[in-house]
Amino acid sequence: MTILILGSGGREHTFAWKLVQSPLCQKLYVAPGNSGTAEIAENINLNVTDFAGIKSLVLEKQIDMVVVGPEDPLVLGMHDFFLNDPELKHVSVIGPQKAAAQLEGSKEFAKEFLFRHNIPTAAYQSFDAGSLEAGYAFLETLNPPYVLKADGLAAGKGVLILNNLDEAKAELKSMLVDAKFGAASTKVVVEEFLDGIELSCFVLTDGKNYQILPTAKDYKRIGEGDTGLNTGGMGAVSPVPFATASFLNKIEEQVVKPTVAGLQKDGLDYKGFIFIGIIKVGDDPKVIEYNVRMGDPETEVVLPRLKNDLVEIFQAIANQTLDTITIDIDERAATTVMLVSGGYPEAYEKGMEITGLEHLTDVIPFHAGAVIQEGKIVTFGGRVMAITSFGNTYQEAIKKSYQNIEKLHFDKMYYRKDIGFDL
Ligand code: AMP
Ligand code: GLY
Repeated sequence: MTILILGSGGREHTFAWKLVQSPLCQKLYVAPGNSGTAEIAENINLNVTDFAGIKSLVLEKQIDMVVVGPEDPLVLGMHDFFLNDPELKHVSVIGPQKAAAQLEGSKEFAKEFLFRHNIPTAAYQSFDAGSLEAGYAFLETLNPPYVLKADGLAAGKGVLILNNLDEAKAELKSMLVDAKFGAASTKVVVEEFLDGIELSCFVLTDGKNYQILPTAKDYKRIGEGDTGLNTGGMGAVSPVPFATASFLNKIEEQVVKPTVAGLQKDGLDYKGFIFIGIIKVGDDPKVIEYNVRMGDPETEVVLPRLKNDLVEIFQAIANQTLDTITIDIDERAATTVMLVSGGYPEAYEKGMEITGLEHLTDVIPFHAGAVIQEGKIVTFGGRVMAITSFGNTYQEAIKKSYQNIEKLHFDKMYYRKDIGFDL
């Protein structure tokens, strides 16, 4: 079959790397892609939310399946667009329809879903500019730290955690009244702070059946010891050592089953990945967020551990036969370390040549914000490349990632040297 991946990050390079290993994948396109996908597939310079452009491409190249990497096209209704178009409705789209994508597109929608289906999560209330005073009153009933979440998509920046009540009130006002996050903070979810260690759980669903993929832990802060600004993710480890069989069983019973059943009860059609952000409080899982896609850089450690043919899995999702698939996982640990442009997640320069790739041994370099310019691989984004390794333990794997990173260079390259430090 002919497949199109939408997106341009390390996640999409990993999807491409995995899909081209399948004998079922005859031709692969990636829009817009990066230098990594250019090596194994054909890049098409198209924006992931250019629905009309994507339609023309799908018709011209006779694409059978579209795999949606990032959330934006899903929240904007990409899957519905295909289903509602007679010329496109035969195409399989991996990613939920617009209504279900609100699980990521609206924090309030996600909280209502969690409560409606009795899935463990933090207590909350949501507010708009008209209920600011009630918001202040609710904050006064909580203990610090205070968690404020912009309701809408805010490029991963919409969550504030504040230690001081006055500061929390000022930020709530700034979000609701002064549109700190634009339209995304027209509503704000104020939530109880949960104290524990986080992990990410990945579920595949065809809307009826589900399969659970390996867990992963990502490292979101720019600085070592989990300090400094939030990023898209600086590295990841899979499996998560503290996710014991009994804890995973709790996640399946208390979170995964009611989530998939809840989608069906609510009539929310869902064919794709569910990324569940979980915090372990004591011995119990609580959901902090849903994403309607795979994580990045979690994909770079989860998919390499998957032994199955990913095209077969996607076909089973499209045909609602996911119950016939047996997920087969590599027992080894996988780690990835993200190389970023100096200055990221704030301003950074682009166009730096990346050298040393030919010297890498026994690692998989997944390109992210990197492109080919005049025959050279150069930086193009904040997160540039994820170096993935396998090991019998995550310590062994991470050592391999770090040894190989020594061979790589670009001007102002930065990475965290402590991935896995807290495990
Ligand atoms: P979210 O975008 O909802 O994942 O939130 C971003 C980050 O904020 C999470 O990865 C957590 O580290 C943190 N966070 C979100 N909600 C809570 C909460 N209720 N308690 C503690 N930390 C939280
Ligand atoms: N690594 C976190 C995310 O993909 O949202």
